[in-house]
Amino acid sequence: MNFFEATVRVLSHKGHGVVDHPDGRMFFAKGVWVGETARFRLTGTEKNYDVISVLEIISPSPHRVSAPCAHHGSKKCGGCPWMFISYEEQVQAKEKRIDFLLSKNNIPVEKRFSLIASDKNLGYRNRAQFKTDGVSIGFVTEGTNDLYAIEDCLVLNPQMREHLKVLRSHLPRADWSSTGTHPWNYIEMDDHQAVSDIQLNRRRPFRQGNSEQNIKMKMWIEEVLKDAPKEHPVIEAFCGSGNLTEAISNIGFTNILAAEVRGVAIDELRSKKMPGVQIMEIDMNIKGVWQQLSRRQPQAKILLVDPPREGLEMRAGLFNSLKQLEKVLYISCEPNTWARDVKDFQANGWKVESLTPIDLFPHTPHIELMSVLKLR
Ligand SMILES: C[S@@+](CC[C@H](N)C(=O)[O-])C[C@H]1O[C@@H](n2cnc3c(N)ncnc32)[C@H](O)[C@@H]1O
Repeated sequence: MNFFEATVRVLSHKGHGVVDHPDGRMFFAKGVWVGETARFRLTGTEKNYDVISVLEIISPSPHRVSAPCAHHGSKKCGGCPWMFISYEEQVQAKEKRIDFLLSKNNIPVEKRFSLIASDKNLGYRNRAQFKTDGVSIGFVTEGTNDLYAIEDCLVLNPQMREHLKVLRSHLPRADWSSTGTHPWNYIEMDDHQAVSDIQLNRRRPFRQGNSEQNIKMKMWIEEVLKDAPKEHPVIEAFCGSGNLTEAISNIGFTNILAAEVRGVAIDELRSKKMPGVQIMEIDMNIKGVWQQLSRRQPQAKILLVDPPREGLEMRAGLFNSLKQLEKVLYISCEPNTWARDVKDFQANGWKVESLTPIDLFPHTPHIELMSVLKLR
C-alpha cells in the first residue's frame, strides 16, 4: 500500500514523527508533530529504508504556527525542522525526550532541573556553514547534494545576517565556483570575524552556537564548582579554544590541565594565556589517553568533559587512572552517547547528582545536557 493514513504516536530522537503503516512497518516522517493524523505516501528508499512523505495533514496539532522563514519546509534549506511548532511546545518535546532517555536507560538523577530555554528563538546563531557555487549561497537540502539558495536566515544573529548580506552582494563570483568533488564550496563564518577575513573551505575553531546560552553554560560551571577548593587539580578534556576553561579559570582554580586535539582550536587556546592553565595537545580517542592525562595531572579531583556527538569513545582506563576524582562535569550535545557513557560511570560506582538541559538551538531537536556526576 503506497498511500496510508496514520497518527503520529511519538517523536523520534531525531525529531521526526513516528507512524505505523497498516502492514505493521514503522516509518519516520518529517514535518509532522505528535498527535497529528496525516495521509502519507511511500516515496522511495534512502540508505535501504523506505521513505515516506506527507501528502496532507488531516488533523493538525494545536501547537502549529506559521513558520516565519520563507526557506522553511520540505526540500528547502532544512535547517530549522521544528519551525512549524510553537517554541513553548518545542521546549516541552525536549523535556519529554530527556525523561524518556533517563527512564529507558535506567539513569536515576538526584536533581533534574528544567530545560533552560533560549530567550531568543530567532536571531541567536553566532556561526554557520554555508555552501556556495559562485552563483548563489545557501545550505544543502537534507538527503541531497543540492544547494538550496537563501536570501536571509532568521536564526542568525544580526551581525551574522549582515555578513551574509555582504557575501551575497559579492555574487556572482567565478573564484567561488566549485572545482572539487562537490558542486559547491563551503564557507564557515562566525561573528568573531570581520567579513573581509571570511575564506572559502577554511575550518573555524568550534564555538558554542548561541552566545547568550553560552553565557548561561559558563554560569552553570561557576555555580556547580563554587564550593570546590580552588587548589583542586582539574582536567578539562575536549576544551576547544578554551571557552569553558575561561569559566574555571575565572573562578580561581589554579591548576587546570586543558586537553584538545591538534587543530584550529589549540592555537587560539594557546594565545589566550589563561592563568593557572597548562595545555595538552592530545587525541582523546587513543588507547592510554587517560593514563597520559593522569601522568600530567596525577591528583586530578575534578574532570570536565565536553566531547563532540560521539561522546567519550575511549572510556577504558578512565576509572583506573584517575583514582582521586571526586566530581565529573559532563556536558553533552548528544543525549544518546551521554546515556551510554553515564551507564559506564554508574557501573563504576558513580551517580548523576544533577542534570540541567539547555536549549542552544531553537527550531531544531538538538538538546545540550549539563550534568554533575559524583561517586556514590
Ligand atoms: C563540543 S566541542 C567543546 C569545546 C569547548 N568546550 C567549547 O565550549 O567551546 C568538542 C571539542 O572536542 C574537540 N575534539 C574532537 N575530537 C577530539 C578528540 N578525538 N580528541 C580531543 N579533542 C577532540 C573538538 O575539536 C572540539 O573543540
